[in-house]
Amino acid sequence: MPAISFDGALAVPGPSIVDGLCHAGWLMQEHFISPELSRQLAAECVQSMLSGKMKGAGVGSGHAPLLQPDIRGDHIEWLETGRSSACDRYLEHMETLRRMLNRELFLGLEEYESHFALYAPGAFYRAHLDRFRDDDKRTVSVVLYLNDDWLPEHGGALRLHPHDGEHVDIAPQAGRMAMFMSGEMLHEVLPTARERLSIAGWFRRRG
Ligand code: OGA
Ligand code: MN
Repeated sequence: MPAISFDGALAVPGPSIVDGLCHAGWLMQEHFISPELSRQLAAECVQSMLSGKMKGAGVGSGHAPLLQPDIRGDHIEWLETGRSSACDRYLEHMETLRRMLNRELFLGLEEYESHFALYAPGAFYRAHLDRFRDDDKRTVSVVLYLNDDWLPEHGGALRLHPHDGEHVDIAPQAGRMAMFMSGEMLHEVLPTARERLSIAGWFRRRG
């Protein structure tokens, strides 16, 4: 069933991308990256927090997103190419994925933006869409998780609310990737009991 894995193997586009993203509006993929790359990225994310580079995440776009811990409590640092070899590998994977999505789904995705995110124990992100009122370029959201040995009692699931049907909970287990349509899929991060690491990113159309 793996349709898109960079875990040692070649990326193979499969019907599950189309089925997932187009029909259901979301999909989940295990082993999206290797355990080694996941560990390197997790270490970098923690290092970034320790050295004070992660900032409280704001709500909204524009010059001064507002800190609103009652809405979202994560800390983030935006990724840039050349930051580290691990991040560059991750960004190369996402470039491959961008081309694949355009080839398979004709989405016209032109850019990718992403950040490390760290949720300290107790943090959460209330239900939201990933598209801003004044900026509709974000088209596909992708979250990659970096946490080994995640247990149900740790909470912190990504909860998706598809239009039709039950909600879906995705635990933030290392190597797992969740992808969904940014402007359509209502989603939230349930309160976490354990430090929760991820990279959240968005494929954008040109404005
Ligand atoms: C976000 C988001 C989900 C997650 O950063 O916008 O919804 O599982 N993240 O971390
Ligand atoms: Mn979101």
